[in-house]
Amino acid sequence: MAGLRRRAVLGAGLATGVGSALAGCTTAEAPPAAAARQPAAFDPESWDSVRAQFSLDPGIAHFAAFVLAAHPAPVRAAIETHRAGLDTDTHAYLNQGVQREEEVREAAAGYLGANPAEIALTDSTTMGMGLLCGGMRLRAGQEVLTTEHDFFGTHEALRLLAERTGAPVRRVRLYDDPAAATEADMVARLRAGIGPATRLVVVTWVHSSTGVRLPIKAMSTALAEANANRDPADQALLVVDGVHGFAAVDTTVTELGCDFLTAGTHKWLFGPRGTGLLWGRAWAAVAPVIPSFSGAESPGREATPGGYHSFEHRWAAKEAFEFHKAIGRDRIAARIQEQATRLKEGLAGISSVRLVTPKDPAVSAGLVMCSINGMSPNQAVQRLRSEHRIDASVTPYAEPLVRFGPSIVTTPEQVDAVVRAVAALR
Ligand SMILES: Cc1ncc(COP(=O)(O)O)c(C=O)c1O
Repeated sequence: MAGLRRRAVLGAGLATGVGSALAGCTTAEAPPAAAARQPAAFDPESWDSVRAQFSLDPGIAHFAAFVLAAHPAPVRAAIETHRAGLDTDTHAYLNQGVQREEEVREAAAGYLGANPAEIALTDSTTMGMGLLCGGMRLRAGQEVLTTEHDFFGTHEALRLLAERTGAPVRRVRLYDDPAAATEADMVARLRAGIGPATRLVVVTWVHSSTGVRLPIKAMSTALAEANANRDPADQALLVVDGVHGFAAVDTTVTELGCDFLTAGTHKWLFGPRGTGLLWGRAWAAVAPVIPSFSGAESPGREATPGGYHSFEHRWAAKEAFEFHKAIGRDRIAARIQEQATRLKEGLAGISSVRLVTPKDPAVSAGLVMCSINGMSPNQAVQRLRSEHRIDASVTPYAEPLVRFGPSIVTTPEQVDAVVRAVAALR
């Protein structure tokens, strides 16, 4: 039943996607768009079929696919359709633009369990964080709390916020040894960092330095307790860089309980490169930074940067959400977790390897980091690529580590090949 339902959903999604793009062709104002490339026959129940939707080189095991997405067939087809429409009669094709943008918001809202009106469309996680920190209204005396583990883009956005507002930004350390990180300890350390003047708490859902996943729900509960007797204008708001949990972990923003979440849709979702979103439920706290082209019709639209964009990519994000939904958010998260667990168990059994990411799936997601004795991460990654056709990455942090990201484009058999290849590195 589930399979039939998913197939039906996908069929409907693809039909709607192509249909809405082509719908414009039938009106006087809209130009004909070239036919989209037909996606290969797709069975969302089959992981082989899912992988076959990508043009990725099958001779390489793609364990760094989360860095920047390759486009699956429905996304490529939608991009081609929109590109052809824009190239054929640009001005007329734009007539459907507002409608297409709303369809992206609705698809994103369905994924997030959110209201479409609360979603701003961005180009990346970094843009969402920049819009938020650039527009956050802070009163004199209010301060910001973040952690030592965040992405450099977040720390830079907060440095600029401090420069603009004068608000102090403090950092807490949530764990000393990532492999031993626990939910209770991380929540306790964050709670201890919250002061009476803390207005903003900025964290990263899954650390791209260590693979540790934060217990966002428990952290939002801790904030709610701290906020209980505060005036709404003084309450601490929880801001999450969600990029490595988004489309990798099976949950919604309602379940997470945070106030804002920024994520690129061009990583684990395999959406169009150069797309992202910023969701929020406390928009009154933020002033727009880049002028919107939609006015104040909804907070999400008001926070969406105006100007003309690479629309063929932006509008095709809808098909990325539909592709993900057809496969199933739960199945994708389980597939990632299954492979990540297998990889961690394999790496932990190699005497020359130090596994950095916690084994516990409750405090980790798809990212798996390790170091290898007697070898720099760069050397290891180069040799995995040249000797074993395995693509991994090096973490861009003070302590560089070897990083793997099993996903829907990798397989458990490839995970085993990674373990054998790492064991063979001497
Ligand atoms: C935690 C984290 N946030 C943000 C980014 C940047 O994402 P984007 O390209 O969507 O801005 C990265 C890595 O690329 C990251 O690891």
